[in-house]
Amino acid sequence: MSTVLDIPKAEKPLLSGSSIVTVERPVHLAHMRCVGRVTVGAYSYGNVDTITYDADIGRFSSIGHRVIIGPIEHPTDWLSSSGFSWGDTVFEPYGGYRAMVSSERFPANSARTSIGNDVWIGAGAIIKRGVTIGNGAIIGAGAVVTKDIPPYAIYAGAPAKIIRPRFNEATIARLQNLQWWNYVLDREALANPRYSKVEDSISVIEDAVAAGKIDRLRPQQATITTNGANQVISL
Ligand SMILES: CC(C)(COP(=O)(O)OP(=O)(O)OC[C@H]1O[C@@H](n2cnc3c(N)ncnc32)[C@H](O)[C@@H]1OP(=O)(O)O)[C@@H](O)C(=O)NCCC(=O)NCCS
Repeated sequence: MSTVLDIPKAEKPLLSGSSIVTVERPVHLAHMRCVGRVTVGAYSYGNVDTITYDADIGRFSSIGHRVIIGPIEHPTDWLSSSGFSWGDTVFEPYGGYRAMVSSERFPANSARTSIGNDVWIGAGAIIKRGVTIGNGAIIGAGAVVTKDIPPYAIYAGAPAKIIRPRFNEATIARLQNLQWWNYVLDREALANPRYSKVEDSISVIEDAVAAGKIDRLRPQQATITTNGANQVISL
């Protein structure tokens, strides 16, 4: 079903050009600009002035203010780093430029960036194009992430370096195995869990899954594109 603007404003990202954004509802993307093809899992949000290029973002991830994910790369060892040498059309409306634009493409820009589930990215961080951030990782404010980040690690700085793992190895293995973000964490069914107690809450969720007390999360999908001035939502 294709329809114009029939989901809440908070769920609608700001789209650039011919971008295609596929989300699992609900998300909160009202302030997040998306460029290219972007997918976002349920219960994830982007804060004010965040820009995401060609990336896959998992569930329950929190993207802070002014974060940039997967920005376009320019070549460092070609004749020029400028767009005409790798097919960027930014100056196309201006006379003469079109004839200069090369048909060559810079391969680094075909890479997608991957942000796992339950990732928290602090304000102003930049995540280099093509990087993978593992489930449960935390990226400090202002970090410049140039390499893959393992699951459940806290990284900060420029370039980002490890501060510490969030939990011990055994706990991280249990979390990676459980993948709690794939379930409806119904508070009543889980007998009011205390998430501040990590080991206990893992056990409670593991037991509930084994006993069939909680359901798998089955979010509705929506694809958001533009048609002239309108955003078009396909449910
Ligand atoms: C990364 C972060 C989560 C770590 O929090 P924490 O576990 O309480 O860390 P601490 O304050 O104990 O700092 C541990 C070390 O990391 C350093 N550090 C912490 N955050 C840092 C950052 N953003 N950049 C560089 N270094 C940082 C500290 O200076 C300290 O270094 P030291 O051991 O040499 O003294 C936190 O500092 C942060 O950046 N939060 C982001 C907040 C934000 O942007 N919110 C937006 C709302 S969505």
